[in-house]
Amino acid sequence: MPFFPDRASTFAPHVDALYIFLVLLSAFFSLLIGSLVVVFAIKYRRRSESEVPVKVHESGLLEMTWTVIPFLITMVLFVWSSWVYFKIARPPREALDVYVTAKQWMWKLQHADGRMEMNELHVPVGRAVRLTMASKDVIHSFYVPAFRFKRDVVPGRFSTAWFEATKPGRYHLFCAEYCGTRHSNMIGWVYVLSPAEYQAWLSGGSPGESLAAAGAKRFVEHACNTCHADKPGARGPSLNGVFGKPQRLSGGQTVIVDEAYVRESIVNPQSKLVEGYPPIMPTYQGLVSEEGLLQLVAYVKSLSPGPASGAAPATAPAPPVPAERKAGKT
Ligand code: CUA
Repeated sequence: MPFFPDRASTFAPHVDALYIFLVLLSAFFSLLIGSLVVVFAIKYRRRSESEVPVKVHESGLLEMTWTVIPFLITMVLFVWSSWVYFKIARPPREALDVYVTAKQWMWKLQHADGRMEMNELHVPVGRAVRLTMASKDVIHSFYVPAFRFKRDVVPGRFSTAWFEATKPGRYHLFCAEYCGTRHSNMIGWVYVLSPAEYQAWLSGGSPGESLAAAGAKRFVEHACNTCHADKPGARGPSLNGVFGKPQRLSGGQTVIVDEAYVRESIVNPQSKLVEGYPPIMPTYQGLVSEEGLLQLVAYVKSLSPGPASGAAPATAPAPPVPAERKAGKT
């Protein structure tokens, strides 16, 4: 029985180092305090019934010492763990996108090209993979111990997270949040393949309809295109080239257009209105399934060429956008 699971992602060494440091620190202070309790209990025990203890005065130096040292130790922990946290929280721009839908009791994973997998995920080694996850029912949690990766999947919003596998192999995927009778069966495998194997795997199956293409169909199906028409004077803002960029809102604030913002704009359009547009869009809450939302988001993302995050290169041609923005501002 191994003491630690495999270390198969770029996070694993950092998470383990922090964890081991915490264990050693706790062990050190437990031993120190425990031994002092025993030593002092023996050393300062009452020796006769009539013994009167000597008067003790406080020592400023001693009090400073036991305030400053723990303060420094906790600051080290704070800075170190924040550094690890930020590393985990910020996906790199050129990540491979995988969309995850969790439901009682299975994982459904879809690659950007449309390849679908159930309770199995194939990824290449040495490449960042970003997961955009949604739940159809209750809270689940995507957990791959070998990657030191765990993220809750909460109904009503997207959870995004990323990892980069460093070692080819097969690793356990668990649901780490009790989600009903068959929670313990909500398990699967993550296969980390070498680049050549990954190419072979990619060409092995039928890609099916890409998420963005499915999203484009829904866009028309729900008549989104009647308002979000890409021309001046349209009733809704153009969606071309907006993904990954800052967007000014009617309240004067600015948001970065990401998966969460696009989702919110579909289910709760009034909450963050684009500057210059009236609050006329109805909510699509309940009308579009979680998968539909993922598809629509993939579609909006595909309208902004460039790396996966949608950060378009400066030279990317997006002529309709400036016109649209001007129309919105006047
Ligand atoms: Cu899903 Cu536990």
